[in-house]
Amino acid sequence: MLTIQSKLMLKQECITKMSLVHLNKVKPACRRFEGKVAIVTASTNGIGFAIARRLAQEGACVVISSRREENVKRAVKQLCDENLKVSGLVCHVGNQEDRKRLLEEAISKFGGLHILVCSAGINPVPGQLILDCSEKVWDKTFDVNVKTTFLLIKESLPLLKKSKSSSIILISTMGGYTNNLGVYSVSKAALFALCRSIANHHTKDGVQINCIAPGLVKTNFAKFLSEDKERVTQILSRTPMNRLGLPEEIASVAAFLASEDASFLTGETITVSGGNPPSRL
Ligand SMILES: NC(=O)c1ccc[n+]([C@@H]2O[C@H](COP(=O)([O-])OP(=O)(O)OC[C@H]3O[C@@H](n4cnc5c(N)ncnc54)[C@H](OP(=O)(O)O)[C@@H]3O)[C@@H](O)[C@H]2O)c1
Repeated sequence: MLTIQSKLMLKQECITKMSLVHLNKVKPACRRFEGKVAIVTASTNGIGFAIARRLAQEGACVVISSRREENVKRAVKQLCDENLKVSGLVCHVGNQEDRKRLLEEAISKFGGLHILVCSAGINPVPGQLILDCSEKVWDKTFDVNVKTTFLLIKESLPLLKKSKSSSIILISTMGGYTNNLGVYSVSKAALFALCRSIANHHTKDGVQINCIAPGLVKTNFAKFLSEDKERVTQILSRTPMNRLGLPEEIASVAAFLASEDASFLTGETITVSGGNPPSRL
């Protein structure tokens, strides 16, 4: 006998699988990024990988990266096998030398930079209440989620400005609004302010910056939530679309924000969460 929770999980699994089949079958028809060069951090898996793939499917040359060489090799091979123009290297976003090599790779392999997607993020203590957070965990979380994002943007800016019209996209989380994920939520909320602050000062340089706040998306990172039946049931009860998101559904919004279609948009955060929860009125 299936419990109500199990039935809900099965239904959600089924809808997610159907969407995945659909998304994998339907290749993007437009080529909005011909002649453009993109860097996507943390892009060998999950949301970052889906964004790198989508930008490349639409014609961009994409530099992909993450900490582990085997992941970089696997992701590069998969995308090259799909005839996409990508180059890959190891880059831990917290390492200054790695970030420098990332920018050098974009110049040496593809001749510049038009799109920067900052997708790296960590949540070292999932579920921990904010005031239980140690100073060490606070520093580590803010280092990766906020400081390295700020540093990479600062280091990329001269290249992005050279491209006349360029775009930066930050990957935050809906949890930045709901504040239910401890220090991770607090650090990701800082990205909303970083986005707005950079937009205020650098839009005049031809650089647009926007942020995405995904809801729960099926990836390794989110397993602590997506494999917890009780939490999923709670989340689905607040989600009008009654399912979890897919990395490809974040990628399509990132592609919109990086494109000319978003030509009058900067300093914004877009929540992509199947309607959960209404983050603003
Ligand atoms: N999944 C969700 O429900 C969800 C919701 C809201 C926001 N987000 C945000 O989305 C982003 C991506 O998460 P995801 O769910 O796609 O995770 P994922 O599927 O687990 O992929 C994480 C990727 O990041 C790389 N990575 C991790 N730490 C890194 C670092 N310090 N430097 C460079 N690369 C690093 C990993 O490769 P290596 O192991 O090789 O480094 C991997 O390629 C994160 O910023 C997360 O906060 C996710």
